[in-house]
This record gives sequence, structure tokens and C-alpha cells, in this order.
Amino acid sequence: MGRTEVEQFLNNQKKNIEEQLPTYISQLSAPNIIKDAMHYSLEAGGKRIRPLLLVGTLHSFGKDESIGLPTACAIEMIHTYSLIHDDLPSMDDDDLRRGKPTNHKVFGEAVAILAGDALLTYSFQIVSESLGDQISPEKKLLLVTELAKASGPEGMVGGQVADMEGEGAVLNLDELEYIHHHKTGKLLAYSVIAGAILADATSEQLEKLTQFAHHLGLAFQIRDDILDIEGTEVVLGKPVGSDTGNHKNTYPALLSLEGAKEKLTFHIDEAKRFLYSVDMKHDILDYMCNLIASRDH
Ligand code: IPE
Ligand code: IPE
Ligand code: MG
Ligand code: MG
Ligand code: MG
Repeated sequence: MGRTEVEQFLNNQKKNIEEQLPTYISQLSAPNIIKDAMHYSLEAGGKRIRPLLLVGTLHSFGKDESIGLPTACAIEMIHTYSLIHDDLPSMDDDDLRRGKPTNHKVFGEAVAILAGDALLTYSFQIVSESLGDQISPEKKLLLVTELAKASGPEGMVGGQVADMEGEGAVLNLDELEYIHHHKTGKLLAYSVIAGAILADATSEQLEKLTQFAHHLGLAFQIRDDILDIEGTEVVLGKPVGSDTGNHKNTYPALLSLEGAKEKLTFHIDEAKRFLYSVDMKHDILDYMCNLIASRDH
């Protein structure tokens, strides 16, 4: 596919995902306030990078992207929950997210915490109930287990704790890489892995794609750190300078802005090296590497 077709593919897939997400919420039999709070943060926009990585991986294997839609939506729900909690006063204490007041600013802290909890648990229900006979029980079990690992104490939550504990301390590069790999890399990597599992990838392909996603995840969070300095609130849809204010360990703080940019390029190059070592189509995922390297929001 040429550049225009790749962009068209991603726009269409994004549209499918954004049509599906509110449907999952509206069909819930639950108090309106929690449905409203879940819906508020989900429909606030966002780049939908993780679900797009999943359907992009399915495309790379020549598979029908629609079989990945439930898992793609589940990942976006877990990601959105992590943002709601990340913004809470007891965590990063931020007031703006996806261009709108953060969830707790609108619904209060208690409902924001519960909206996060609800998005987290509902996402597992969506994966396990997805697509009846089209996906085998074994595959669903693997998808659920890997999702739990990527988002729980061995994944995103572990990274968030290390990020918090590191506030104010001076960490070395290995410790910082642990934080970025876990708080952001694991769920992003799961998006690729889930696509590969659904596409019946071989264990060798899975291994290489795990390496690909590891580097892509690090690159993604390094770019996030850089944008906290170089970005603008209007384009980012979230505050700039939040990391400095919270005395966070970031790549620019440890390596300087230039050093962080070099690391970003290194990890994108490594990601592409692993990507091209897998025998499949590369167009969508290659485009997404470039997008992640140069994004302004
Ligand atoms: C922000 O994620 C939090 C990080 C893990 C860096 P995104 O940059 O993907 O945020 P949205 O989903 O587009 O709002
Ligand atoms: C967040 O990292 C990672 C998450 C798991 C949410 P940041 O705290 O840097 O994300 P932003 O900058 O608030 O989006
Ligand atoms: Mg944070
Ligand atoms: Mg934050
Ligand atoms: Mg950040």
C-alpha cells in the first residue's frame, strides 16, 4: 500500500473502533453515572494507537481486521482507565486530558476511580465474550492471560508504581527503562501480540514481534517525555511541564533533550529491524513507527 492508502486504512479502522466503543458502554445495565463517566473519557478522542496496532498487525498477516475489534476496544478501555487514574490528584494531578477537563474534575474523585475500575474489569468481559465460535477458547484464554500480565503488577501497574516511587530520586538508565517499558511499553506491546495471536503467528514470529513492540513501546514513551517539554497544551490536549512539576524521571531529564531524541531514533530503528525480519506485510506497521517517532500529540 502507498502512503495514501495506509492513511485511508488507518482512518477507516479508527472510525470502526470509535463507532464500537460507545456501543459497548450503552449496552451496559449499570447506574447512569458510571456509564456517563466511562463514556466521557472514552469518547474524548485520543489517537487510538493501541487498537490500531492490533488491527494493523492483523492486516500484516493478511487477516480480516474485524476479528480483532473486540480485543482492540478492550485495550483502549484499559488504556483509558490508566489515564483516568494517572491524572488523579494522588498521582500526576493533571486537569486536562484529551482536550477536556480530566474525569475527576467533572465527576469527582470517587466516580473517576470507579470509572477506571469499571473500564478495567469490563475489558476482560469483552475479550472473553467476544466472537463466539470464531475464536477458540484456548486463544481467548491466552488473550486474557497476556492482557492481565501486560496491565497488572508485572506490567502497566508495576511501571506506574516505579514511576511514582522514583519521583524526586535520580535513577539510572536501566531503572528508567524499566519504568517506561512497564508503564507504557507492556500494553502497547500487547496490542501487537494480541494481533499476532489472533492471526495464528508462529512462535518465531511472536518472538520477533515482541522485540519489535518492546522498542516501539520505549520509543512511544520517550516521545511522550519529549512532548511534555516541546509540545503545546492546545495540540497535546494535556498539560505540558507536568513531568518537571512532579519531579519525574524522564529521558530528557536524564540524557538532555538531544540525548532523548537520539534514544528515540535508536529504538525506532531497532523496532524496524525486527519488523522487517518477520515474513509478512510491513506497510502499516512501518508507517506507525514513523508516526510514533514524529507525533506532535
Ligand atoms: C498517553 O498515551 C499516556 C502514555 C502512555 C504515554 P497516548 O499518547 O496514547 O494518549 P491518547 O490515547 O492518544 O490520549
Ligand atoms: C503514563 O505516563 C503512563 C500510563 C500508564 C498512563 P505519563 O504520566 O507520562 O502519561 P501522560 O503524559 O500523563 O499522558
Ligand atoms: Mg504518570
Ligand atoms: Mg501523567
Ligand atoms: Mg507524559
